[in-house]
Amino acid sequence: MTKLLYAKKPEAKNKMPPKDNKAKKEIIWTKKDLIGLEYLSIEEIRLILDHAKSFKEVLARPLRKVPTLRGKTVVNLFYEPSTRTRTSFELAAKRLSADVINIVKESSSIQKGETLIDTGRNLEALKIDVIVVRHNASGAATTLSRALNISVVNAGDGWHEHPTQALLDIFTLEEKLGKIKGLNISIIGDIAHSRVARSNIWGLTKLGANVTVCAPKELVPPGIKELGVKVTSDIDEALKDADAINVLRMQFERDKPDAFPSKLEYFRTFGITEERLKKAKKNIVVMHPGPINRGVEMSGEVADGINSVILEQVTNGIAIRMAVLYLVTHAKKG
Ligand code: CP
Repeated sequence: MTKLLYAKKPEAKNKMPPKDNKAKKEIIWTKKDLIGLEYLSIEEIRLILDHAKSFKEVLARPLRKVPTLRGKTVVNLFYEPSTRTRTSFELAAKRLSADVINIVKESSSIQKGETLIDTGRNLEALKIDVIVVRHNASGAATTLSRALNISVVNAGDGWHEHPTQALLDIFTLEEKLGKIKGLNISIIGDIAHSRVARSNIWGLTKLGANVTVCAPKELVPPGIKELGVKVTSDIDEALKDADAINVLRMQFERDKPDAFPSKLEYFRTFGITEERLKKAKKNIVVMHPGPINRGVEMSGEVADGINSVILEQVTNGIAIRMAVLYLVTHAKKG
């Protein structure tokens, strides 16, 4: 197990010797950036989750702050709207004692036509340490990371990946169900346009979950089966043996083909209702990355119901983002 900062010291008394005396290889974080879960090993995903666990302990203390990133500056560079991701990255940076600057498209020189790379280079020239970027173009975070020496963290790029969302989803699942390996997880909704779905698929399959995606067939992207998931358009099948469901937002702001005649039609066919949940496992975990379209992806009763962990996901986002900011700023040479 990697030595974690700020974790409680283990009890020395009555400690049993480990059954397996083989020394475990220490996992070292070597990446200056976090672009997607596709590019992480199982061990690197575990390292983030382990650090998040330690940082969650910090967040439970009366003084929810550590000096780890004192003197560092994190810039949130957001080309798309956000409530959860931007706020929790800001909170995460502040809990680590970093300085934080928020840049939104509407009030920056992006409006005057400055390119992403030029914006990044100018921020680098201002001697900042991390750019957290959200962008409508798939690949924007990769482009920025290649152009800069400072750390780049992907806060969602087009339809590509939203790695910290998947990490907080996985963290929440593991907290609730004690493991990931062998769990049946259904991801339901607009798979084709979802960066959350892609990051979850990469992360969950790497950690050994059985993943099913469920969507109208027009919203199932080609090649998705090759990622090791089962595909269905039958919501009852997706719910039947699921230990957890991750219900995706319908992205009405993005261009897409008419996959269904109306929001009401979608809700009738794919919406998660209390009635539908009665046929699922009693303790099924209901997740949603937010923001929710109540009455489209799920009913208000389900969103606020006893199976829902939606707000716990949001809370866990701070610990995950603290872990990511810590690791990318302390990357060792590989
Ligand atoms: N889940 C998520 O990315 O939410 P925001 O768009 O509010 O950041």
